[in-house]
Amino acid sequence: MTKTCSAPGKIYVFGEHAVVYGKRAIASAINLRTTATVTESNQTEIKSPLGTTGIDYMVHPYISRCIEHLSIPAVSIRIDSEIPVGSGLGSSAAAVIATLGALNAEFDLGMTRTAIAEAGHQIEREVQGAASPTDTFVSTMGGTVVITPGQSPPASAKLRLIDCDIVVGDTREFSSTKELVGNVRILHERYPDIMNPIFDIIDSLSEIGVPLIERGDYRSVGELMNIDHGLLDAIGVGSAKLSALVYAARDAGAYGAKITGAGGGGCIVALADDAEAVASEINDAGGNAIITKASREGVRVRT
Ligand code: MEV
Repeated sequence: MTKTCSAPGKIYVFGEHAVVYGKRAIASAINLRTTATVTESNQTEIKSPLGTTGIDYMVHPYISRCIEHLSIPAVSIRIDSEIPVGSGLGSSAAAVIATLGALNAEFDLGMTRTAIAEAGHQIEREVQGAASPTDTFVSTMGGTVVITPGQSPPASAKLRLIDCDIVVGDTREFSSTKELVGNVRILHERYPDIMNPIFDIIDSLSEIGVPLIERGDYRSVGELMNIDHGLLDAIGVGSAKLSALVYAARDAGAYGAKITGAGGGGCIVALADDAEAVASEINDAGGNAIITKASREGVRVRT
């Protein structure tokens, strides 16, 4: 039998990096998805744009971990994705959640959505060393969500779905979440009195952002996103290219623009009324613009 399952990528409105220190974050699923197709087979095989392997922690660490985590019989898994890899759009979480969803369906494992999100978070932690529950939770549940990771289990609440345009600007520079989280950890260890207040301010951005998103006040959300971008730059996860795309988006009239995800390379995100103008300015500044929308839908088995 064959089962196909897809899961969305996500953008951070506020809170990347701070969420690793227990602070609140707001993130939204977007209309870019990763699909996992699972077929029972006599030999385990993982196929993706990265190559075809068996269990292989160098090429396919996330999918290898999914297979071992569930202790299932040999299986063939194919991954197809609309989400650029290593871009800060949650490509690894979407691949993990789509794979867990497909394996759950294929082998009748009876996992609930919550169990899939929790297993996905554990797998991301095992592969990356540290990971907040944001990416895997949003990819499983969909929607625009506020996450409070400091509690056990992490609390989350769905907000009104962002309904303005979302423009992603990809620098096409690979970024390693593990490395960037590690760099921030070093700064935090050296300068806790500087870094903790920055994380507290980012937490306040999420707190103040909740009612603004509920009201659809994207102009104010955008102003706070601009502040968050400055703070992400301050903690060392910015780059000249990321800022060039952020300023291009703002000059084109975006409500606000910031790094999304781990930074270093990867993507920026802008909220906009005139997405075409923002996308064109991002492309002119050397980025690759993707116009998208927030997505209500999380993990989905194709029937
Ligand atoms: C990466 O997409 C976001 C970070 O906050 C790490 C995480 O939340 O696991 C940098």
